Order: sequence, then structure tokens, then C-alpha cells
Amino acid sequence: MDLIPLPQTVDLREDAPPYAFGPRPLLATGPGAGGTARWLRRELGAATGWDLPEAGPGAAADIRLRLDPEGLARQGPEGHRITVDATGVELAGADAAGLFWAAQTLRQLLGPDAHRRAPLGGRGGRVWTLPYGTVADGPRFGWRGLMLDVARHFLPKDGVLRAIDLLTAHKLNVLHLHLTDDQGWRVEIKRHPRLTGVGAWRPRSRWGHRASPLWNETPHGGFYTQDDIREIVAYAAERHVRVVPEIDLPGHSQAAIAAYPELGNTDVVDTTALGVWDDWGISENVLAPTEAVLRFYEGVFEELLELFPPEVSPFVHVGGDECPTTQWHASARAQARIRELGVAGEEGLRSWFIRHFDTWLARRGRRLIGWDEILEGGLAPGAAVSSWRGYAGGIAAARAGHDVVMCPEQQVYLDHRQAGGPDEPVPIGYVRSLEDVYRFEPVPPGLPARAAAHVLGAQANVWTEVMENRSRVDYQVFPRLAAFAETVWSRLPEPASRDYAGFETRMAGHYRRLDALGVEYRPPGGPLPWQRRPGVLGRPIEGVPPVV
Ligand code: ACM
Repeated sequence: MDLIPLPQTVDLREDAPPYAFGPRPLLATGPGAGGTARWLRRELGAATGWDLPEAGPGAAADIRLRLDPEGLARQGPEGHRITVDATGVELAGADAAGLFWAAQTLRQLLGPDAHRRAPLGGRGGRVWTLPYGTVADGPRFGWRGLMLDVARHFLPKDGVLRAIDLLTAHKLNVLHLHLTDDQGWRVEIKRHPRLTGVGAWRPRSRWGHRASPLWNETPHGGFYTQDDIREIVAYAAERHVRVVPEIDLPGHSQAAIAAYPELGNTDVVDTTALGVWDDWGISENVLAPTEAVLRFYEGVFEELLELFPPEVSPFVHVGGDECPTTQWHASARAQARIRELGVAGEEGLRSWFIRHFDTWLARRGRRLIGWDEILEGGLAPGAAVSSWRGYAGGIAAARAGHDVVMCPEQQVYLDHRQAGGPDEPVPIGYVRSLEDVYRFEPVPPGLPARAAAHVLGAQANVWTEVMENRSRVDYQVFPRLAAFAETVWSRLPEPASRDYAGFETRMAGHYRRLDALGVEYRPPGGPLPWQRRPGVLGRPIEGVPPVV
């Protein structure tokens, strides 16, 4: 079968006649299996036309759901087993998440059309079949993520819900939302209404990467209301996906400063004249190192913690990356602050911000996570690091006993172009093909076992400066997310020994699933005419070897 990600063990009888469902299959929902039953009725029910009523006592159910923590202990958390025989199919999960992933495998086994939203040929228009046998599975890592930058280009709420569905179709379980940046603030904060009133839109955007002379004069914006966030979080939780919110500070903050000029370094720039940034890059307009700014952001995080309860995400991402210190260098107020706090220069101010929220979050039972720059100032033991500037930050963090999420830009930044040809839309960064992503390894070789145990997993990151809409995001993310999913779910051999040809063969079937799901992936032969952006400049990096 074309299962993606590759399961641990597959024993399916593809030579024998399959199990054939009747027109009105029954479902048996064991204790703790309600979420997966709801998902099957909603998603599989839509694709097949089945109502999937509950089998009454004593009635034989075609699909049986149950939790079996003891029987599946060997598979570990999220483990599961699917068994198809003459009586139908049983899905067993080591836990509720495992059972849910089993349902995803069931849908893949039923074929591409099981991923549609309505049955072709009407209800009862076809006989659905499953091969006899078993699939036993469980993930390699607990953190299997995708980061979406919804700040540079806003992804409306339905796009986020769809992204959650697409994650789950690949057994990925973390959605990291980059909610704020220089170019936009995307989450409603009731006590600071101008964050979205002013900060959620910009009058125009550069069209292409920084070097491009073109502008898109259409205003761009949007934000999630608090109820939108509650809906997203609940939708994700029902599907065993954690949503990790990111509020980036003290850099990447121009949208916030445009909304509330007092957040900026007012003794060196007239922040009242600032707008939400319409260009790409790293803005020098960073937060002022004042107590008032800390109080302002504590208010932001107070509302955020209420929206993202700890069972959904114990982690809160505070950014911490790419904070230029030019304004702090020039600011008498910042310099006085450096002396008063006794910190090591301007760099010390950045860690002072991060350490403040590290303690603040820890007191509220949460864990801080930030980009690997945050390691430079020393962290509380519970804090975790997103290693993006290669593996080095993650290695240092793991050796120091911090949990790490590997997301090295040289390997898994999906904004980077997928091929070297001139047809790639607004090509930026390194060429990172489907095969390159398939050979990504989250745990660097040579990392001692004790440090390697701190690698929670990995995530692919998608920065959207040159992705103006959902179609462009689809193009960058797919099919590479399928390869990424296999690197974090499956137990693949070391990169050079991976069976990429076998993966490509399975991808042939997976493209049909993506078609049925309506994903506008990059076709293997290159972009379709309407996926190109002729004349819009990117920023390719040629011949730069990956940094490990
Ligand atoms: C990042 O790419 N600036 C985290």
C-alpha cells in the first residue's frame, strides 16, 4: 500500500480478495473512542455517504474502535493497530491520539476518494474495500510540527482549520502559529485593541523579495478574533493537534509599535510616524527595554494563556530571534537601563526580555520556547529552543539539558525553493527538493543519548513574505510536508540509506490523496503556468553548502 508516513509494520494481503463494506456499515465505539468516532462520521461519512450508526448491543459492527493501552504498550504513546479480517476492521489505540492516527491510516487504506467531501456517484454508488491484514504503528517523535507565518501574509481562519486537517492527514501534531511580526499583528487582544485595529493591516506590500522593485498596492490584513482562536484550538484539540502561539519579542515588533508608539525607542525615533511595515527583512524598530513594555506584554500573554489552555499547549513561543540593537545602542534610555540592570550591553537587554517572560510563564505553569538566539542569555531549566540557524543551537541547548525542536533553515524551511529552475515562483533561499527534505534527520549524528533525549522532534517552518495567498502556501508546503512527516513519524535509516525511490513510488498514490483533498502542491514536473510568478524577484542562494 502507499501509506504515508511509512508505518512500523505492515502485513496486508494485497493478493487476496479484500474485505468489502456493505452499504450501511455500523460503528462500535469503545470507552474513550468518542472523538475518533465523531471524526469518522464527519469525514469518512462525507466521503462515503455512510451514516455510521452505532451498532446496538450484540450487533456486529463493521468498524470497531477501542483503546488498548496495555496491548499496545510496545508501540508507545500514540501507538495503534489496525486489523482487517472477515468481520470488518478493528482500530485499537494505545491512547486516544493513537486511535485517531489509526483512523487516518484507515482512510488511506480506503483509497484517494475517501479523502473527498462527497461520494462520487452518490450514496451507495460504490463498494468500499480494505485489504485483509494488520498495520501496527507509532511515532518516532512526540513533536511533529509545522510553523505557519500568518503575520507576513494573513491566512484566514478557514485556511488554518484546513491546515490542521492537512497536518492530521500526515499524522503531524503541532501547529506553531507565528502571530506577530513587523508586518502585522494577527490576534485580538481585548485590553490593547489597537494591536489589531492598527497593527493588523498595512496599506501595501512589496511584491517579491526585498530586491524586487515592485509593489502590490492592495491593502493587506486580517486577524483572528478571540473566538476564532478558541475555535481553532478546539478544532485542533479534537484532532490531537497542539497549537503553539508565538508572540515575537523584543524584535520583529514594528506592527505593535505602530499601534502603540510608546512601545518603541521614542528617544531615538519618532515612533508616532511609524506604520505597519510594508517591506520585508528585519526592522530596526524594536521594543524599548522599559518596565511599561513588560507590563504591556504581560497583559498580552495573560489573554493568550486564557485562549491556549495548558492541556492544548504548555508551550508559549516568545520569538527572540533577529533583534537588531542599533536603536538600543543609540538610546540614552536603553543605555541607562543596561547600567541599571547590570546586563552585558545591548545583547544583555534581549536576554533580559526573554528571561523575564521565562520566569513569568514558569510561574503560571507554562513553558517558554523561543528561537535559538534565546540560548545566548541563559535560560530557566524548563525553557525549550527552536533550533533554526542550523543544528548548532539545538545541540548546545540539548547538551545543556533543554528540550529542543529541530527546524534548521538549511533543511526544513519550506519557503526555500524546491528546484533550481527559473520557473519556481519568487525563488528564495537554498534549493531544497523533495528528496532533500526526505533525507532530513532531526537528531544530529554524534549527539550523546542523554542530549538526544531532549530532541522533542522537529518542525517545518513556512515564512510567507512571498506567499500572498493559500495557493502559494500550498505550493511551498506540498509535497514536501509528506516527506517531512516521514522523517518525524517513521523510523527511517540514516539519511544516506533512505529508500527515496520507494518513497517516490508511494508518493504516486499520495498525490491522488492530495488531489482529492484539494491541495495545490508543486507537481513533480514543476509549476503549472498559474503557479509561476514571472518577473517577480526572489533571493536565491546559490552553491551555499548546508551548515550542520
Ligand atoms: C527565523 O527564521 N527568524 C526564526
